[in-house]
Amino acid sequence: MLRRLAVAAIGLAAIGAAGFWFLTDPALLPPPEIPAEYVADLANGEMMFHAGGCSSCHAAPGAKGEEKKRLVGGLAMKTQFGTFHAPNISPDPNTGIGGWSNADFVAAMTRGVGRDGEHLYPAFPYTSYQRMAVTDLLDLKAYLDTLPAATSEVPDHELGFPFDIRRGLGLWKLVYLDGRPFAPRPMLGEEANRGAYLVEGPGHCAECHSPRDPFGGIDRGRAYSGGPAPEGDGHIPNITPDASGIGDWSASDIAYALKSGFMPDFDSFGGSMVAVQENLAHLSDADLAAIAAYLKSLPAIASTPAPKTAD
Ligand code: HEC
Ligand code: HEC
Repeated sequence: MLRRLAVAAIGLAAIGAAGFWFLTDPALLPPPEIPAEYVADLANGEMMFHAGGCSSCHAAPGAKGEEKKRLVGGLAMKTQFGTFHAPNISPDPNTGIGGWSNADFVAAMTRGVGRDGEHLYPAFPYTSYQRMAVTDLLDLKAYLDTLPAATSEVPDHELGFPFDIRRGLGLWKLVYLDGRPFAPRPMLGEEANRGAYLVEGPGHCAECHSPRDPFGGIDRGRAYSGGPAPEGDGHIPNITPDASGIGDWSASDIAYALKSGFMPDFDSFGGSMVAVQENLAHLSDADLAAIAAYLKSLPAIASTPAPKTAD
């Protein structure tokens, strides 16, 4: 009897392991098709680079001005799962992504799959970048190829068990990565749809401005209502049109703040929003107005957990 139980347990464990192996296969969700012939638009690629905030994580920490275009990596990102070190994504063929094809790049951005077919950690916000149009991604890749190649050695991530097992990320992705590109919503007009694309795709605003569940996934029902800062200190504000958010900001207040860094109370952005704003200042006035129109169209949600206090 005991023997039969033991055999059954081993059998179940083997089925479990096979199931784990199958469910965590990085090839489970195939990346989008890439047009065979495509002439990249470098100006649009540069705009996507700024909208996507690539330099905030991939430039050397504290880099200013042109240095922000040397994507040598090295930023240490402390999270509840451990410390991530942003890699070199400069066109250097050895320590960067110089040898990557367009297909490699699109797979990383939309499926969180690295060049060797491994899962990438969602500290790289591909759950948002998956919404980007393939043509915008190809333009971005072409732009990255024009930036200076620079070598660097970035330390390995320092993560505790079981987060150090990349394969396990497949399970996380089954829940949090749907692989769907952005789809315009008929109830939003053209301008707010453009804003929705910029906010949800390249801008990845929800990644900072939302509460997360214990597995690190965005709490979609409360998206944009603010939440604890991922590094663990401080609170990121609510950007929905609730009274505890930015309900008293007009669309032009929002667009102006993103362009200039000055909020309606004449205070200027602080913390990680400083770099976001410096990048967004490169966007056209029309795109900033579109972002503002979309934020104004969001459902108003009260802040969690700490309501914004008047200061
Ligand atoms: C919030 C920080 C953050 C932002 C913003 C960010 N990345 Fe990353 N990125 C990371 C981290 C961390 C990794 C490493 C993931 C891993 O090792 O699994 C990464 C990995 C990558 C990789 C895979 C590199 C490799 O060697 O496997 C590529 C390509 C990449 N990022 C491109 C971009 C681009 C392009 C942008 C801007 C549109 C961007 N990233 C924005 C944090 C970020
Ligand atoms: C890397 C994290 C991060 C990302 C990404 C980010 N923000 Fe922020 N944002 C912040 C932080 C932190 C603050 C608070 C800044 C301060 O304390 O002055 C903030 C503040 C704001 C505010 C002012 C809210 C208030 O009540 O003071 C607005 C508006 C805003 N962000 C819009 C956006 C938009 C739009 C995007 C996407 C294009 C975005 N943010 C992406 C971190 C982020």
